[in-house]
Amino acid sequence: MIRINENYLKLTSSYLFVEIAKRVSDFQKHNPDKEIIRLGIGDVTRPLPKACVDAFAKGVAEMGEAESFRGYGPEQGYAFLREQIAKTDYKSRGVNINPDEIFISDGSKCDTGNIQELFASDISVAVPDPVYPVYVDTNVMAGRSGRNIKGHYDGFVYLEGNMDNCFVPKPPNEKADLIYLCFPNNPTGAVATKAQLKEWVKYAKAHKALILFDAAYEAFITDPSIPHSIYEIDGAKEVAIEFRSFSKTAGFTGTRCAFTVIPSNCKAFDKDGNWHLLHGMWNRRHSTKFNGVSYPVQRAAEAVYLGDGPAQVREIIDYYMENAKLIREKMEKLGYKCTGGVNAPYIWIECGSDSWEFFDMLLSKAGVVCTPGAGFGRCGEGFIRISAFNSRENVEKALRKIEESV
Ligand code: MLT
Repeated sequence: MIRINENYLKLTSSYLFVEIAKRVSDFQKHNPDKEIIRLGIGDVTRPLPKACVDAFAKGVAEMGEAESFRGYGPEQGYAFLREQIAKTDYKSRGVNINPDEIFISDGSKCDTGNIQELFASDISVAVPDPVYPVYVDTNVMAGRSGRNIKGHYDGFVYLEGNMDNCFVPKPPNEKADLIYLCFPNNPTGAVATKAQLKEWVKYAKAHKALILFDAAYEAFITDPSIPHSIYEIDGAKEVAIEFRSFSKTAGFTGTRCAFTVIPSNCKAFDKDGNWHLLHGMWNRRHSTKFNGVSYPVQRAAEAVYLGDGPAQVREIIDYYMENAKLIREKMEKLGYKCTGGVNAPYIWIECGSDSWEFFDMLLSKAGVVCTPGAGFGRCGEGFIRISAFNSRENVEKALRKIEESV
């Protein structure tokens, strides 16, 4: 008899953004004439930077010529892209990352979801609350939790974020083996200082734990004192894996390119306490289960770092951050407490009521799609998230409609 992985039965019925899409489509079916403005899922709307489009097209043309055609590429990514990342994203900030420590992939959602395969099923997992649901759901699928009781899975260590700690939780008193951190944070837009990250690195070392650091939104940091990488903290390489993405930075949500950094001395342990290097394990996993990102896409990603690329990318980020500023200012003017929107493209708003009810109200009255905070965990109840990824015109229109509706 073929049997299922019963851990799937513990999951809430659908993935957050699928549930939102379903509610929006039901609403549209019943209200075909109502204009909808989407500020829910963080999906970019600006076209790719021209430098990326040109490099992409050139890459495609090369695939059409016998002399420059390429078949299977290296699963870990082409050296030209890994070298640019090491130089521009890390060396320029005083961090020494070897190109070989970088694995190119098709997205941070997949990487943060897949990485847990490297670890034992009986480790303890610490996740922030509110949290990007992928970290939680993938560990539930892998059997590291018990049942969901009122929004918390039994067995996980929840790191509570709230207005008092500015959504930057401290290390817990209990033991956690695998810790998920995301800064700038999705969904709250919070950022962690160097001193706060130092505490986490200290905790990981003391407990022989590992930090999974999701830095997908680092390009949106505007405050120069905020670290962009966990590796800016001394000793972090031994205890942290970092995830980054071109999705939000350069508009690659539909193009697909990201990367994961696993330093060569980053370790985890077997049941007898012997250490093992995670780099080799991920390399084994990546080369077995992943085909690599296509050549033209990697050329497009490389263009983010070359010639006019950096300025064009900056312009897009600044555009979204101006949206973020407008959203935060308006919501604060309307009397809502907010975080985010300064070093991140998300504005986290205390709506003061059931967050799905507020979501439904904004959708039906204003035609604006947001993300209900409860979808990010129990501590997200009473909040909504508004994304800055849309055109200025749509953001301004949405804000006018919200003002008329609340
Ligand atoms: C979000 O809206 O939280 C993101 O778009 C999700 C993602 O990047 O997968």
